[in-house]
Amino acid sequence: MADDAPTPEHVHVEFDAGVCTITFARPRKKNALTVAMYRTIVAAFAEARERKDVRVLLIQGSEGCFTAGNDLVDFMKAGQTGNMGETSPVVQLLKHLVACEKPIVAAVQGPAVGLGVTMLLHCDLIYAGESARFQMPFVNLGLCPEAASSFLLPRVMGYPRAAELILLGERFSAEHALSCGIINQVLADEVVIEKATEVAHALAKKPPRALRVSKQLMRDGYRKQAEETMEAELVEFAKGLTGPEAAEAMQAFFQKREPDFSKFE
Ligand code: COA
Repeated sequence: MADDAPTPEHVHVEFDAGVCTITFARPRKKNALTVAMYRTIVAAFAEARERKDVRVLLIQGSEGCFTAGNDLVDFMKAGQTGNMGETSPVVQLLKHLVACEKPIVAAVQGPAVGLGVTMLLHCDLIYAGESARFQMPFVNLGLCPEAASSFLLPRVMGYPRAAELILLGERFSAEHALSCGIINQVLADEVVIEKATEVAHALAKKPPRALRVSKQLMRDGYRKQAEETMEAELVEFAKGLTGPEAAEAMQAFFQKREPDFSKFE
């Protein structure tokens, strides 16, 4: 099968010593997340939630890339169907991220785009390599933020910096992500996965109930608002996906040209 065909094998899931490791593994397409990949990730989250021996989740990319976010081909298909409802695997993953009681550790290298950034807002300890390049290009794609990021980003870094990242949608460095409070530490690329794995295993040895309760206490104060924001975002996101601005932006990406939004109001 071609490497770029969307199959569940593009995500590796491993359970080891209390840690569920989810690895994005579709390097030829910069680990862009397809519907099939979301299904595998959702199943991993569900299994990690149910299994008492799993105490921590670890999310990482592969081959020097975290993820280019949602697969734009799938976005174009969703633009035709407008499916951003409860049954959508993307939506199911977002719900798992918000509701996950167990700590989530993330290791980021290279591109982290769209959901590749916003999922980090639901992780607990995040390590990035010097090569990490973050971007939330939702507006550039005729869309709006998702994963409750329109609520969480201003909360984490203050409105002006959140507005800069969301409205301009430009790339930013690991150092900037650190200064904005999105990640915990910037490390040399060679040691990022090692560090995140070490931290995940250290967490897995801690008293599990104390870990879960502590995470819950830190997050519960704003969980309801995050969930409400996510619902509102999904409504707008679905409108954006079926609209002409997103169609122009995504066609332009695949045609490797600048988009032209001059005719839109
Ligand atoms: N969906 C589908 N395909 C994608 C993709 C995505 N989100 N991101 C990258 N790809 C594909 C490219 O089309 C290209 O395919 P090709 O080799 O068949 O032409 C391949 O992955 C490599 O991407 P390329 O752009 O050449 O790599 P790069 O190193 O120059 O840039 C990114 C990497 C991630 C910065 C850039 O690909 C990008 O901006 N991607 C779009 C990200 C995006 O908008 N995601 C949606 C967020 S909501």
